[in-house]
Amino acid sequence: MYIPFNKSDISEIELDLVKKTLLKEKLEGGRSNSSEACIKYLKENFLIQDCLLTTSCTSALELSALVLKLNPGDEVILPSYTFVSSANAFVLRGCKPVFVDIRKEDLNLNLDLVEQAITKKTKALVVIHYGGISCDMKKAKNICKKYNLALIEDAAQAVGSKYKDLFLGSIGDMGAYSFHGTKNITCGEGGAILINKKKYLNKAQIHYEKGTNRLAFSLGKVSKYNWRDIGSSHILSNFSASLLLGQLRREKVINETRMNIWNDYNDFFSSNKSLITKYRICSVPTYATKHNGHLFFLIFNNKKMTNNFIKKMREEGCEVSKHYVPLHNSPFGKKVGRVSSSMKVTENAGDCLVRLPLWPGVEAKKIMLASSKIINKL
Ligand SMILES: Cc1ncc(COP(=O)(O)O)c(C=O)c1O
Repeated sequence: MYIPFNKSDISEIELDLVKKTLLKEKLEGGRSNSSEACIKYLKENFLIQDCLLTTSCTSALELSALVLKLNPGDEVILPSYTFVSSANAFVLRGCKPVFVDIRKEDLNLNLDLVEQAITKKTKALVVIHYGGISCDMKKAKNICKKYNLALIEDAAQAVGSKYKDLFLGSIGDMGAYSFHGTKNITCGEGGAILINKKKYLNKAQIHYEKGTNRLAFSLGKVSKYNWRDIGSSHILSNFSASLLLGQLRREKVINETRMNIWNDYNDFFSSNKSLITKYRICSVPTYATKHNGHLFFLIFNNKKMTNNFIKKMREEGCEVSKHYVPLHNSPFGKKVGRVSSSMKVTENAGDCLVRLPLWPGVEAKKIMLASSKIINKL
C-alpha cells in the first residue's frame, strides 16, 4: 500500500474553467472574470463584507499588517504553534511577536493567557483556527475591545468553518484564507484577505496594487492612477482564480467528504478503549458549530511512541506527518520574539502530534487498521 499524506480533489469542472480561461480570458488577475466570480462566491457564501484574492495566505497576512500601519517595536500576540507566516507578516513591519501557549483541548490559542501578555506596546491579537476548528471568538473580541487591539483571524485552514453562526475569517477586523495545495480548497498557491471593517478597504486596495490607486482606476472612479503608499504585488492571477472558482463551486462537497472521513477517524480513535490510553485527540468546543475536516491528529503520550508510530506507518506505506515546529524555539523566533507564558502544551504538540492522511478518496479504513495494529504494540 502507498497512501500519500495529501492529495487535492480536482474535477472536470476545474479543468473546463482553466481551459476556458487559457483560451478566452485574460490571464492576469485583479478585476478579471474568474477573480470577480470567486470574490462574489466568497462574499455570498461566507458572508464576508469585502475581500481581495492574493497570491497566498502569507501575502494576505502581510497586507493586514500593512493596513494596520504597525510600527517597529509594536507587539503582536499570537500562538507559537502556527505556520511561520502568522508571525513573519508582522516581523516584516518591525513588530515583536509575543508567544502565548495553546489549549490542550483543540490546540487553539489559550485566550485565558492573553491578558497577562498585553503591554503598552501591544497593537494586535492574531488567532489561528487550528485544523479549521474555531477559537473562542467572543473571548477574543472582548479582549481586543477592552485593550483596543486589532483582531486578525488567520483562517488559513478554516474555509467554510464556523464560530456559532458566523464564518471564520469574517469575525475579526481582518481575516486570511489559504488556497495552498495542502488546503481543502486550492488553486496551488493562493489566498484571500477578508476585510470586515469598511475603513480598511481603501488602504488594503492600495497596498494590494503595488502602492497605487489602480483599483479605483479600473473601477472608473479616477481617470489616472499613481503612487500613493508602500505596496507590493499581491494579486492572484486570473488563471489561478479560474481553478479556484471550480474548487469554490465544489466547496460544500469537498468539505463534507472530508468531514465524513474526519468523523470516521474520530469515532474510531475515540471509541477503541485499548488504544486510547496511548494518545489524546481533539475535543471540539460547542461554539465551533461547523468545521471543515481539515486535519485529524493524534497526540501520543511521549516522543518515543510518536516517532515509532511515524516510522512504522511509513514502513507500511502510509505517509503520516508531524506539524509545526514551535516558533518560540526556532532560531529566528528566539531572536525576534518574546514568550509570555509556559509553553508546555505547544512544546508537547510540537513533539508528539501526528496527522493522518485526510483527503477525499483516502482509504481511511486501511489507515485505521494499520494504525491500531501499530499503536497496540507501542
Ligand atoms: C495557520 C497558517 N497560516 C498561514 C499559512 C500560510 O499559507 P500560504 O501557504 O497560503 O501562504 C499556513 C500554511 O499552511 C498556515 O497553516
